[in-house]
Amino acid sequence: MFINKLYILIIFLIFGLNLTGYCEVAIIPQPRSIKYTNKSFEFNENTKIIYKDIDKDVAQYASSILSRSTGYPLQLSGEGKQLDNCLIFKKINDSNLGKEGYRLDVYNNYIMVSANTDNGLFYGFQSLLQLLPAKVYSSNVQNSVRWIVPGVNIVDKPHFKWRAMHLDVSRHFMPIEFVKKFIDLLAIHKFNRFHWHLTDDQGWRIEIKKYPRLTEVGAWRDGTLIGLNTQPESEKKYDGIVHGGYYTQDEIKEVVQYARKRHIDIMPEIEMPGHAQAAIASYPELGCTGKNPGVKKDWGGSKYIFCADENTINFIENVLDEVLELFPSKYIHVGGDEVSTGHWVNGERVKVTMERYNLKDMYEVYGWFMGRINRYLKSNKRTMVAWDEIIEGGIPDEAVVMSWRGNTGAIQAANMGFYTVNADSNYTYFDKYQSESGSEPLAIGGLITLEDVFNFNPVPSELSFNNRKFILGAQGQLWTEYMPNPDHVEYMAFPRECALSEVLWTYKNTNFDNFENRLRNHLKRLDTLNVNYRRPN
Ligand code: ACM
Repeated sequence: MFINKLYILIIFLIFGLNLTGYCEVAIIPQPRSIKYTNKSFEFNENTKIIYKDIDKDVAQYASSILSRSTGYPLQLSGEGKQLDNCLIFKKINDSNLGKEGYRLDVYNNYIMVSANTDNGLFYGFQSLLQLLPAKVYSSNVQNSVRWIVPGVNIVDKPHFKWRAMHLDVSRHFMPIEFVKKFIDLLAIHKFNRFHWHLTDDQGWRIEIKKYPRLTEVGAWRDGTLIGLNTQPESEKKYDGIVHGGYYTQDEIKEVVQYARKRHIDIMPEIEMPGHAQAAIASYPELGCTGKNPGVKKDWGGSKYIFCADENTINFIENVLDEVLELFPSKYIHVGGDEVSTGHWVNGERVKVTMERYNLKDMYEVYGWFMGRINRYLKSNKRTMVAWDEIIEGGIPDEAVVMSWRGNTGAIQAANMGFYTVNADSNYTYFDKYQSESGSEPLAIGGLITLEDVFNFNPVPSELSFNNRKFILGAQGQLWTEYMPNPDHVEYMAFPRECALSEVLWTYKNTNFDNFENRLRNHLKRLDTLNVNYRRPN
Protein backbone atom coordinates (compact mmCIF):
# COMPACT_ATOMS: atom_id res chain seq x y z
CA MET A 1 0.00 0.00 0.00
CA PHE A 2 2.70 2.45 1.09
CA ILE A 3 4.89 1.43 -1.85
CA ASN A 4 1.97 2.11 -4.16
CA LYS A 5 1.49 5.61 -2.81
CA LEU A 6 5.19 6.34 -3.06
CA TYR A 7 5.18 5.10 -6.63
CA ILE A 8 2.28 7.38 -7.51
CA LEU A 9 4.01 10.30 -5.83
CA ILE A 10 7.22 9.71 -7.82
CA ILE A 11 5.29 9.43 -11.07
CA PHE A 12 3.45 12.66 -10.18
CA LEU A 13 6.69 14.48 -9.39
CA ILE A 14 8.32 13.41 -12.63
CA PHE A 15 5.43 13.82 -14.99
CA GLY A 16 3.02 16.03 -13.10
CA LEU A 17 5.32 18.75 -11.90
CA ASN A 18 8.07 18.90 -14.43
CA LEU A 19 6.23 18.32 -17.68
CA THR A 20 3.57 20.86 -16.82
CA GLY A 21 6.15 23.37 -15.75
CA TYR A 22 4.40 23.64 -12.39
CA CYS A 23 7.63 24.25 -10.50
CA GLU A 24 8.50 27.26 -12.55
CA VAL A 25 5.25 29.18 -12.20
CA ALA A 26 5.91 31.85 -9.61
CA ILE A 27 3.73 34.84 -10.28
CA ILE A 28 3.64 37.81 -7.88
CA PRO A 29 0.99 38.89 -7.07
CA GLN A 30 -0.44 35.37 -6.99
CA PRO A 31 -3.32 34.98 -9.46
CA ARG A 32 -6.74 33.95 -8.21
CA SER A 33 -6.84 30.69 -10.15
CA ILE A 34 -4.19 28.76 -12.09
CA LYS A 35 -4.86 25.43 -13.77
CA TYR A 36 -1.89 23.54 -15.14
CA THR A 37 -2.12 21.73 -18.45
CA ASN A 38 0.28 19.51 -20.34
CA LYS A 39 0.66 22.04 -23.15
CA SER A 40 3.35 24.64 -23.66
CA PHE A 41 4.17 27.41 -26.12
CA GLU A 42 7.56 28.50 -27.40
CA PHE A 43 8.22 31.95 -28.87
CA ASN A 44 10.41 32.08 -31.97
CA GLU A 45 11.42 34.54 -34.69
CA ASN A 46 8.13 33.99 -36.55
CA THR A 47 5.75 34.52 -33.62
CA LYS A 48 3.23 37.27 -34.30
CA ILE A 49 1.17 39.40 -31.99
CA ILE A 50 -2.49 39.64 -32.96
CA TYR A 51 -4.88 42.16 -31.51
CA LYS A 52 -8.62 42.08 -31.92
CA ASP A 53 -11.18 44.77 -31.19
CA ILE A 54 -8.81 46.85 -29.13
CA ASP A 55 -6.70 49.84 -29.72
CA LYS A 56 -3.16 48.87 -30.45
CA ASP A 57 -1.57 50.06 -27.20
CA VAL A 58 -1.24 46.83 -25.24
CA ALA A 59 -0.17 44.83 -28.27
CA GLN A 60 2.45 47.42 -29.13
CA TYR A 61 3.69 47.53 -25.56
CA ALA A 62 3.90 43.72 -25.51
CA SER A 63 5.83 43.64 -28.77
CA SER A 64 8.34 46.25 -27.61
CA ILE A 65 9.00 44.52 -24.28
CA LEU A 66 9.26 41.01 -25.72
CA SER A 67 11.41 41.93 -28.72
CA ARG A 68 13.94 43.72 -26.52
CA SER A 69 15.06 40.53 -24.78
CA THR A 70 14.09 37.83 -27.31
CA GLY A 71 15.43 39.70 -30.31
CA TYR A 72 12.39 38.47 -32.31
CA PRO A 73 10.50 41.02 -34.40
CA LEU A 74 7.07 40.00 -32.95
CA GLN A 75 5.20 41.79 -35.68
CA LEU A 76 1.77 43.16 -34.94
CA SER A 77 -1.21 42.15 -36.91
CA GLY A 78 -4.74 43.41 -36.56
CA GLU A 79 -6.20 40.48 -38.47
CA GLY A 80 -5.43 36.84 -38.87
CA LYS A 81 -7.78 33.97 -38.32
CA GLN A 82 -5.16 31.25 -38.17
CA LEU A 83 -4.33 30.37 -34.60
CA ASP A 84 -0.77 29.49 -35.22
CA ASN A 85 2.41 30.70 -33.55
CA CYS A 86 0.90 33.83 -32.10
CA LEU A 87 0.13 35.79 -29.00
CA ILE A 88 -3.43 37.07 -29.17
CA PHE A 89 -4.97 39.96 -27.26
CA LYS A 90 -8.72 39.88 -27.36
CA LYS A 91 -11.46 41.96 -25.77
CA ILE A 92 -14.31 39.87 -24.43
CA ASN A 93 -17.41 40.44 -22.38
CA ASP A 94 -17.16 38.54 -19.13
CA SER A 95 -18.77 40.12 -16.10
CA ASN A 96 -16.76 37.88 -13.77
CA LEU A 97 -13.53 39.62 -14.75
CA GLY A 98 -14.59 43.16 -13.87
CA LYS A 99 -12.62 46.22 -15.00
CA GLU A 100 -9.13 44.88 -14.35
CA GLY A 101 -9.37 41.09 -14.57
CA TYR A 102 -8.11 38.85 -17.37
CA ARG A 103 -7.82 35.29 -18.64
CA LEU A 104 -4.53 33.88 -19.84
CA ASP A 105 -4.62 30.59 -21.74
CA VAL A 106 -1.52 28.90 -23.08
CA TYR A 107 -1.84 26.32 -25.85
CA ASN A 108 0.77 24.55 -27.95
CA ASN A 109 0.36 26.85 -30.93
CA TYR A 110 -0.87 30.08 -29.42
CA ILE A 111 -1.38 32.13 -26.27
CA MET A 112 -4.62 34.01 -25.67
CA VAL A 113 -4.92 36.95 -23.31
CA SER A 114 -8.52 38.08 -22.95
CA ALA A 115 -10.18 40.76 -20.86
CA ASN A 116 -13.02 43.27 -20.81
CA THR A 117 -10.65 46.23 -20.83
CA ASP A 118 -7.18 47.32 -21.88
CA ASN A 119 -6.26 47.33 -18.19
CA GLY A 120 -7.10 43.64 -17.95
CA LEU A 121 -5.15 42.82 -21.13
CA PHE A 122 -2.18 44.70 -19.70
CA TYR A 123 -2.27 42.71 -16.45
CA GLY A 124 -2.64 39.49 -18.41
CA PHE A 125 0.51 40.41 -20.29
CA GLN A 126 2.31 41.12 -17.00
CA SER A 127 1.45 37.59 -15.85
CA LEU A 128 2.63 36.17 -19.15
CA LEU A 129 6.02 37.85 -18.65
CA GLN A 130 6.29 36.08 -15.31
CA LEU A 131 5.67 32.72 -17.01
CA LEU A 132 8.77 33.30 -19.14
CA PRO A 133 12.41 33.03 -17.96
CA ALA A 134 13.48 36.01 -15.81
CA LYS A 135 15.78 37.17 -18.61
CA VAL A 136 12.69 38.37 -20.46
CA TYR A 137 13.08 41.56 -18.40
CA SER A 138 16.53 42.13 -19.84
CA SER A 139 17.10 45.34 -21.79
CA ASN A 140 19.20 43.54 -24.41
CA VAL A 141 18.92 40.42 -26.55
CA GLN A 142 19.48 37.12 -24.71
CA ASN A 143 20.45 34.64 -27.42
CA SER A 144 20.93 31.52 -25.36
CA VAL A 145 17.48 31.46 -23.78
CA ARG A 146 14.53 29.35 -24.97
CA TRP A 147 11.35 31.33 -24.49
CA ILE A 148 9.02 28.57 -23.36
CA VAL A 149 5.73 29.31 -21.63
CA PRO A 150 4.29 26.49 -19.51
CA GLY A 151 0.71 25.43 -20.16
CA VAL A 152 -1.72 27.21 -17.85
CA ASN A 153 -5.23 28.54 -17.75
CA ILE A 154 -5.28 31.58 -15.49
CA VAL A 155 -8.37 33.48 -14.43
CA ASP A 156 -7.51 36.51 -12.36
CA LYS A 157 -8.72 39.83 -11.02
CA PRO A 158 -7.69 42.19 -8.22
CA HIS A 159 -9.33 42.44 -4.83
CA PHE A 160 -8.83 46.18 -4.24
CA LYS A 161 -9.27 49.01 -6.68
CA TRP A 162 -6.75 51.34 -4.96
CA ARG A 163 -3.33 49.72 -5.28
CA ALA A 164 -0.71 52.39 -4.88
CA MET A 165 2.82 53.31 -3.94
CA HIS A 166 3.84 56.75 -2.75
CA LEU A 167 7.22 58.37 -3.36
CA ASP A 168 8.49 61.48 -1.61
CA VAL A 169 10.73 63.41 -4.01
CA SER A 170 10.90 66.49 -1.77
CA ARG A 171 13.15 65.28 1.03
CA HIS A 172 15.44 63.90 -1.65
CA PHE A 173 14.96 64.73 -5.30
CA MET A 174 14.71 61.67 -7.57
CA PRO A 175 15.72 61.99 -11.24
CA ILE A 176 13.08 61.52 -13.91
CA GLU A 177 14.70 58.31 -15.22
CA PHE A 178 14.28 56.75 -11.81
CA VAL A 179 10.66 57.89 -11.58
CA LYS A 180 10.04 55.98 -14.82
CA LYS A 181 11.77 52.87 -13.49
CA PHE A 182 9.67 53.18 -10.34
CA ILE A 183 6.55 53.24 -12.53
CA ASP A 184 7.73 50.19 -14.50
CA LEU A 185 8.13 48.31 -11.24
CA LEU A 186 4.63 49.34 -10.18
CA ALA A 187 3.26 47.96 -13.43
CA ILE A 188 5.06 44.64 -13.03
CA HIS A 189 3.37 44.23 -9.65
CA LYS A 190 -0.05 45.27 -10.98
CA PHE A 191 -0.31 48.47 -8.95
CA ASN A 192 -2.57 51.03 -10.59
CA ARG A 193 -1.69 54.30 -8.83
CA PHE A 194 1.42 56.36 -8.12
CA HIS A 195 1.15 58.93 -5.34
CA TRP A 196 3.79 61.54 -6.23
CA HIS A 197 4.65 63.62 -3.14
CA LEU A 198 5.89 66.72 -4.95
CA THR A 199 6.09 69.46 -2.33
CA ASP A 200 7.22 69.69 1.27
CA ASP A 201 9.29 71.83 3.65
CA GLN A 202 12.56 70.59 2.17
CA GLY A 203 11.85 71.20 -1.51
CA TRP A 204 9.23 72.23 -4.08
CA ARG A 205 9.61 69.94 -7.10
CA ILE A 206 7.03 70.95 -9.71
CA GLU A 207 7.40 73.87 -12.11
CA ILE A 208 4.54 76.36 -11.72
CA LYS A 209 4.72 78.97 -14.49
CA LYS A 210 2.80 81.62 -12.58
CA TYR A 211 5.14 81.38 -9.59
CA PRO A 212 8.69 80.79 -10.89
CA ARG A 213 10.32 81.35 -7.52
CA LEU A 214 8.78 78.09 -6.26
CA THR A 215 11.43 76.25 -8.24
CA GLU A 216 14.09 79.00 -8.57
CA VAL A 217 14.22 79.24 -4.78
CA GLY A 218 12.02 76.53 -3.28
CA ALA A 219 13.61 73.59 -5.12
CA TRP A 220 17.03 74.10 -3.55
CA ARG A 221 18.42 73.84 -0.03
CA ASP A 222 21.88 74.78 1.19
CA GLY A 223 22.56 71.51 2.91
CA THR A 224 21.07 68.46 4.55
CA LEU A 225 21.09 67.20 8.10
CA ILE A 226 23.68 64.52 8.86
CA GLY A 227 22.29 61.66 10.95
CA LEU A 228 19.00 61.36 12.76
CA ASN A 229 16.61 64.24 13.30
CA THR A 230 16.10 63.17 16.91
CA GLN A 231 19.51 64.52 17.99
CA PRO A 232 19.48 67.75 20.06
CA GLU A 233 19.19 70.95 17.95
CA SER A 234 22.53 72.19 19.26
CA GLU A 235 24.34 69.08 18.03
CA LYS A 236 22.90 68.98 14.52
CA LYS A 237 25.45 69.10 11.70
CA TYR A 238 24.74 69.74 8.01
CA ASP A 239 26.61 68.50 4.96
CA GLY A 240 26.79 71.96 3.37
CA ILE A 241 26.04 70.49 -0.08
CA VAL A 242 23.36 72.20 -2.17
CA HIS A 243 20.60 69.67 -2.80
CA GLY A 244 17.63 70.04 -5.08
CA GLY A 245 15.98 69.73 -8.44
CA TYR A 246 12.52 69.90 -9.93
CA TYR A 247 10.45 68.57 -12.80
CA THR A 248 9.54 70.88 -15.66
CA GLN A 249 5.96 70.78 -16.87
CA ASP A 250 7.14 69.05 -20.06
CA GLU A 251 8.84 66.35 -18.00
CA ILE A 252 5.71 65.87 -15.92
CA LYS A 253 3.58 65.49 -19.04
CA GLU A 254 6.02 62.90 -20.32
CA VAL A 255 5.86 60.93 -17.04
CA VAL A 256 2.06 61.08 -16.96
CA GLN A 257 1.97 59.64 -20.49
CA TYR A 258 4.56 57.02 -19.60
CA ALA A 259 2.44 55.95 -16.62
CA ARG A 260 -0.78 55.99 -18.65
CA LYS A 261 0.70 53.47 -21.10
CA ARG A 262 1.31 51.24 -18.07
CA HIS A 263 -2.21 51.74 -16.73
CA ILE A 264 -1.02 53.74 -13.77
CA ASP A 265 -2.76 56.88 -12.68
CA ILE A 266 -0.55 59.52 -11.09
CA MET A 267 -2.02 61.32 -8.10
CA PRO A 268 0.06 64.42 -7.35
CA GLU A 269 0.33 65.72 -3.80
CA ILE A 270 0.61 69.43 -3.14
CA GLU A 271 0.99 69.84 0.63
CA MET A 272 -1.04 72.40 2.57
CA PRO A 273 -1.44 74.18 4.91
CA GLY A 274 1.58 72.61 6.65
CA HIS A 275 4.73 71.18 5.05
CA ALA A 276 4.89 74.45 3.11
CA GLN A 277 8.21 75.93 4.21
CA ALA A 278 9.83 75.64 0.76
CA ALA A 279 6.91 77.59 -0.74
CA ILE A 280 7.13 80.20 2.01
CA ALA A 281 10.88 80.51 1.44
CA SER A 282 10.00 81.35 -2.18
CA TYR A 283 7.17 83.78 -1.34
CA PRO A 284 7.39 84.81 2.35
CA GLU A 285 4.02 86.59 2.17
CA LEU A 286 2.37 83.15 2.01
CA GLY A 287 3.25 82.62 5.68
CA CYS A 288 1.66 84.53 8.56
CA THR A 289 4.88 86.19 9.76
CA GLY A 290 6.20 87.54 6.45
CA LYS A 291 9.62 86.15 7.41
CA ASN A 292 11.73 84.04 5.06
CA PRO A 293 12.61 80.80 6.87
CA GLY A 294 14.73 79.41 3.99
CA VAL A 295 14.17 75.92 2.60
CA LYS A 296 14.29 73.45 5.51
CA LYS A 297 17.49 71.43 5.88
CA ASP A 298 16.50 68.98 8.60
CA TRP A 299 13.43 66.79 9.11
CA GLY A 300 10.30 66.88 11.25
CA GLY A 301 7.53 69.47 11.23
CA SER A 302 7.90 73.16 10.46
CA LYS A 303 6.09 75.99 12.21
CA TYR A 304 6.00 77.90 8.90
CA ILE A 305 2.62 77.09 7.38
CA PHE A 306 0.45 78.74 4.74
CA CYS A 307 -1.44 81.62 6.38
CA ALA A 308 -5.19 81.00 6.46
CA ASP A 309 -6.53 83.86 4.39
CA GLU A 310 -7.95 84.69 0.98
CA ASN A 311 -4.54 85.59 -0.49
CA THR A 312 -3.14 82.15 0.22
CA ILE A 313 -6.27 80.41 -1.04
CA ASN A 314 -5.93 82.44 -4.24
CA PHE A 315 -2.28 81.37 -4.59
CA ILE A 316 -3.17 77.70 -4.04
CA GLU A 317 -6.01 77.84 -6.54
CA ASN A 318 -3.63 79.27 -9.12
CA VAL A 319 -1.11 76.52 -8.40
CA LEU A 320 -3.86 73.90 -8.63
CA ASP A 321 -4.97 75.29 -12.01
CA GLU A 322 -1.58 74.31 -13.44
CA VAL A 323 -1.47 71.02 -11.52
CA LEU A 324 -4.90 69.96 -12.81
CA GLU A 325 -3.82 70.80 -16.34
CA LEU A 326 -0.87 68.41 -15.99
CA PHE A 327 -2.53 65.55 -14.13
CA PRO A 328 -5.76 64.03 -15.47
CA SER A 329 -6.14 62.03 -12.23
CA LYS A 330 -9.57 62.19 -10.63
CA TYR A 331 -7.81 62.22 -7.26
CA ILE A 332 -5.68 65.16 -6.10
CA HIS A 333 -3.88 64.88 -2.76
CA VAL A 334 -3.60 68.09 -0.76
CA GLY A 335 -1.76 66.86 2.34
CA GLY A 336 -3.42 68.36 5.39
CA ASP A 337 -1.15 66.52 7.85
CA GLU A 338 0.90 67.70 10.83
CA VAL A 339 -0.26 71.30 10.93
CA SER A 340 1.37 73.26 13.73
CA THR A 341 -1.00 76.22 14.18
CA GLY A 342 1.18 78.52 16.33
CA HIS A 343 1.55 81.11 13.57
CA TRP A 344 -2.21 81.05 12.97
CA VAL A 345 -2.99 81.70 16.63
CA ASN A 346 -0.88 84.86 16.52
CA GLY A 347 -1.55 85.85 12.93
CA GLU A 348 -3.37 89.13 12.28
CA ARG A 349 -4.55 87.91 8.87
CA VAL A 350 -5.98 84.76 10.45
CA LYS A 351 -7.97 86.95 12.89
CA VAL A 352 -9.55 88.69 9.92
CA THR A 353 -10.44 85.33 8.38
CA MET A 354 -11.94 84.12 11.66
CA GLU A 355 -14.12 87.17 11.98
CA ARG A 356 -15.21 87.15 8.39
CA TYR A 357 -16.17 83.46 8.39
CA ASN A 358 -17.21 83.23 12.04
CA LEU A 359 -14.61 80.61 12.98
CA LYS A 360 -14.10 80.02 16.67
CA ASP A 361 -10.88 78.01 16.97
CA MET A 362 -7.95 76.61 15.03
CA TYR A 363 -9.85 73.41 14.18
CA GLU A 364 -12.47 75.52 12.47
CA VAL A 365 -9.82 77.57 10.67
CA TYR A 366 -8.24 74.35 9.43
CA GLY A 367 -11.68 73.02 8.44
CA TRP A 368 -12.39 76.27 6.56
CA PHE A 369 -9.04 76.10 4.73
CA MET A 370 -9.41 72.50 3.60
CA GLY A 371 -13.11 73.05 2.85
CA ARG A 372 -12.25 75.91 0.49
CA ILE A 373 -9.74 73.77 -1.37
CA ASN A 374 -12.24 70.92 -1.55
CA ARG A 375 -14.83 73.27 -3.04
CA TYR A 376 -12.31 74.36 -5.66
CA LEU A 377 -11.36 70.80 -6.58
CA LYS A 378 -14.99 69.76 -6.78
CA SER A 379 -15.79 72.69 -9.04
CA ASN A 380 -13.06 71.30 -11.30
CA LYS A 381 -14.56 67.80 -11.13
CA ARG A 382 -11.77 66.35 -9.03
CA THR A 383 -11.82 64.51 -5.73
CA MET A 384 -9.75 65.70 -2.81
CA VAL A 385 -7.58 63.24 -0.91
CA ALA A 386 -5.99 64.21 2.41
CA TRP A 387 -4.15 62.60 5.32
CA ASP A 388 -6.33 61.58 8.27
CA GLU A 389 -5.88 64.89 10.18
CA ILE A 390 -8.62 66.09 7.84
CA ILE A 391 -11.12 64.33 10.12
CA GLU A 392 -10.33 66.84 12.90
CA GLY A 393 -11.53 69.80 10.86
CA GLY A 394 -14.63 67.94 9.66
CA ILE A 395 -14.19 65.91 6.47
CA PRO A 396 -15.21 68.04 3.49
CA ASP A 397 -17.89 66.67 1.15
CA GLU A 398 -16.78 63.62 -0.82
CA ALA A 399 -13.13 63.88 0.26
CA VAL A 400 -11.11 60.67 0.56
CA VAL A 401 -9.28 60.12 3.85
CA MET A 402 -5.82 58.60 3.77
CA SER A 403 -5.32 56.90 7.12
CA TRP A 404 -1.69 56.93 8.25
CA ARG A 405 -1.76 57.19 12.06
CA GLY A 406 -2.67 53.53 12.39
CA ASN A 407 -6.02 52.50 10.96
CA THR A 408 -8.14 54.65 13.29
CA GLY A 409 -8.68 57.25 10.59
CA ALA A 410 -9.86 54.58 8.16
CA ILE A 411 -12.34 53.25 10.71
CA GLN A 412 -13.67 56.71 11.58
CA ALA A 413 -13.97 57.78 7.96
CA ALA A 414 -15.66 54.57 6.84
CA ASN A 415 -18.09 54.72 9.75
CA MET A 416 -19.03 58.25 8.65
CA GLY A 417 -19.56 57.06 5.08
CA PHE A 418 -16.37 58.47 3.55
CA TYR A 419 -14.09 56.56 1.23
CA THR A 420 -10.70 55.88 2.69
CA VAL A 421 -7.30 54.49 1.76
CA ASN A 422 -5.35 52.52 4.33
CA ALA A 423 -1.77 53.84 4.60
CA ASP A 424 -1.30 52.56 8.15
CA SER A 425 2.21 53.54 9.24
CA ASN A 426 2.52 50.26 11.18
CA TYR A 427 2.45 48.26 7.94
CA THR A 428 2.97 50.52 4.95
CA TYR A 429 5.71 52.98 5.93
CA PHE A 430 8.65 51.50 4.10
CA ASP A 431 10.98 54.10 5.61
CA LYS A 432 11.09 51.90 8.74
CA TYR A 433 13.72 49.21 9.26
CA GLN A 434 13.26 45.84 7.54
CA SER A 435 15.16 43.82 10.13
CA GLU A 436 16.67 44.10 13.57
CA SER A 437 20.02 42.83 12.32
CA GLY A 438 21.93 45.97 13.24
CA SER A 439 23.49 46.04 9.76
CA GLU A 440 20.67 47.95 8.08
CA PRO A 441 21.39 51.42 6.72
CA LEU A 442 20.18 54.37 8.80
CA ALA A 443 16.37 54.60 8.78
CA ILE A 444 13.76 56.64 10.56
CA GLY A 445 13.18 53.94 13.22
CA GLY A 446 10.59 51.27 13.90
CA LEU A 447 10.41 47.88 12.20
CA ILE A 448 8.25 46.51 9.39
CA THR A 449 9.39 43.12 8.14
CA LEU A 450 8.46 41.49 4.85
CA GLU A 451 6.17 39.14 6.76
CA ASP A 452 4.49 42.09 8.54
CA VAL A 453 3.62 43.57 5.16
CA PHE A 454 2.44 40.21 3.87
CA ASN A 455 0.11 39.89 6.88
CA PHE A 456 -1.32 43.41 6.57
CA ASN A 457 -5.08 43.55 6.24
CA PRO A 458 -6.23 46.87 4.75
CA VAL A 459 -9.77 46.22 5.99
CA PRO A 460 -9.92 46.85 9.76
CA SER A 461 -11.78 44.04 11.53
CA GLU A 462 -13.64 46.69 13.58
CA LEU A 463 -15.68 47.68 10.54
CA SER A 464 -19.15 46.33 10.01
CA PHE A 465 -19.66 44.32 6.86
CA ASN A 466 -21.61 47.22 5.33
CA ASN A 467 -18.89 49.78 5.95
CA ARG A 468 -16.05 47.69 4.53
CA LYS A 469 -16.94 48.94 1.07
CA PHE A 470 -15.50 52.35 2.02
CA ILE A 471 -11.97 50.91 2.13
CA LEU A 472 -10.77 51.59 -1.39
CA GLY A 473 -7.50 49.78 -0.82
CA ALA A 474 -4.08 50.64 0.51
CA GLN A 475 -0.69 51.97 -0.43
CA GLY A 476 2.97 51.83 0.59
CA GLN A 477 4.84 54.98 1.61
CA LEU A 478 8.43 55.90 0.75
CA TRP A 479 9.35 58.99 2.74
CA THR A 480 12.89 59.80 1.71
CA GLU A 481 14.45 61.69 4.63
CA TYR A 482 16.89 58.80 5.03
CA MET A 483 16.92 57.65 1.40
CA PRO A 484 19.33 59.97 -0.39
CA ASN A 485 19.26 58.27 -3.80
CA PRO A 486 17.35 55.84 -6.04
CA ASP A 487 19.41 52.79 -5.00
CA HIS A 488 18.46 53.43 -1.42
CA VAL A 489 14.78 53.86 -2.31
CA GLU A 490 14.87 50.48 -4.07
CA TYR A 491 16.50 48.89 -1.05
CA MET A 492 13.72 50.11 1.24
CA ALA A 493 10.93 49.37 -1.23
CA PHE A 494 11.85 45.83 -2.24
CA PRO A 495 10.87 43.16 -1.58
CA ARG A 496 8.25 44.73 0.75
CA GLU A 497 6.51 46.23 -2.29
CA CYS A 498 6.13 42.70 -3.70
CA ALA A 499 4.36 41.58 -0.52
CA LEU A 500 2.10 44.63 -0.60
CA SER A 501 1.17 43.93 -4.22
CA GLU A 502 -0.01 40.52 -3.12
CA VAL A 503 -2.07 41.98 -0.24
CA LEU A 504 -3.77 44.35 -2.65
CA TRP A 505 -4.28 42.11 -5.63
CA THR A 506 -4.66 38.62 -4.17
CA TYR A 507 -5.76 39.51 -0.61
CA LYS A 508 -5.88 37.04 2.25
CA ASN A 509 -3.22 34.77 0.88
CA THR A 510 -2.17 33.49 4.27
CA ASN A 511 0.64 31.18 3.19
CA PHE A 512 3.86 33.14 3.73
CA ASP A 513 6.05 30.09 2.92
CA ASN A 514 4.40 29.84 -0.45
CA PHE A 515 5.00 33.57 -1.04
CA GLU A 516 8.66 33.21 -0.06
CA ASN A 517 9.07 30.32 -2.50
CA ARG A 518 7.67 32.38 -5.34
CA LEU A 519 9.71 35.38 -4.24
CA ARG A 520 12.92 33.38 -4.72
CA ASN A 521 12.13 33.20 -8.44
CA HIS A 522 10.77 36.71 -8.53
CA LEU A 523 14.03 38.13 -7.19
CA LYS A 524 15.74 36.84 -10.34
CA ARG A 525 13.43 39.16 -12.26
CA LEU A 526 14.39 42.05 -10.00
CA ASP A 527 18.06 41.13 -10.55
CA THR A 528 17.55 41.33 -14.31
CA LEU A 529 15.90 44.72 -13.83
CA ASN A 530 18.85 45.93 -11.73
CA VAL A 531 16.73 46.55 -8.67
CA ASN A 532 18.78 47.05 -5.53
CA TYR A 533 16.41 45.08 -3.29
CA ARG A 534 17.19 43.89 0.22
CA ARG A 535 18.02 40.18 0.22
CA PRO A 536 15.55 38.39 2.47
CA ASN A 537 17.06 36.47 5.42
C1 ACM B 1 2.66 61.73 7.30
O1 ACM B 1 3.40 60.75 7.47
N1 ACM B 1 2.93 62.88 7.86
C2 ACM B 1 1.48 61.64 6.47
